Amino acid sequence: MLKKIEAIIREDKVNDVKDALEKIGIVGLNMFEIRGHGRQGGIQLLGRAGTYQVNMLTKIQINIVLSDRNLEETIQTILDSAYTGEPGDGLLFVYPVEEVIRVRTRERGQDAVMYPGDIDERKGRAKVGH
Ligand SMILES: Nc1ncnc2c1ncn2[C@@H]1O[C@H](COP(=O)(O)OP(=O)(O)OP(=O)(O)O)[C@@H](O)[C@H]1O
Ligand SMILES: [Mg+2]
Repeated sequence: MLKKIEAIIREDKVNDVKDALEKIGIVGLNMFEIRGHGRQGGIQLLGRAGTYQVNMLTKIQINIVLSDRNLEETIQTILDSAYTGEPGDGLLFVYPVEEVIRVRTRERGQDAVMYPGDIDERKGRAKVGH
């Protein structure tokens, strides 16, 4: 079973999270800058003309499609590396993934998201069917 983790994290935690993911052997991922807000609805900032409300905060979204056998370890790694304990640390969303297809080889499913030296190879796991 393939899953997708959508991790919304602080901008200044991106390098820590990327490094931690690399360390456990997560190879395939993508990320982009997003704007949004959670339950505080933004933050108050102090400017030259007094305080003002910023209600769409910039965060980084990291997307990882992976085998569900690596899901928990990857979640724990993100939780540990993205954590400050202050409001705004982010949220993780997990989804089931219907299909992945590598264009060049037409590999599908798990085979299409396994890479040389990745978490599965390190754990001595063979490619599995789907
Ligand atoms: N329900 C949601 N759906 C999609 N994106 C969301 C949702 N809620 C929050 N977000 C996004 O996730 C980010 C994380 O927000 P944030 O870390 O402030 O979470 P929180 O739920 O307010 O918890 P905390 O109390 O730690 O601040 C938001 O800035 C926004 O980009
Ligand atoms: Mg919040």
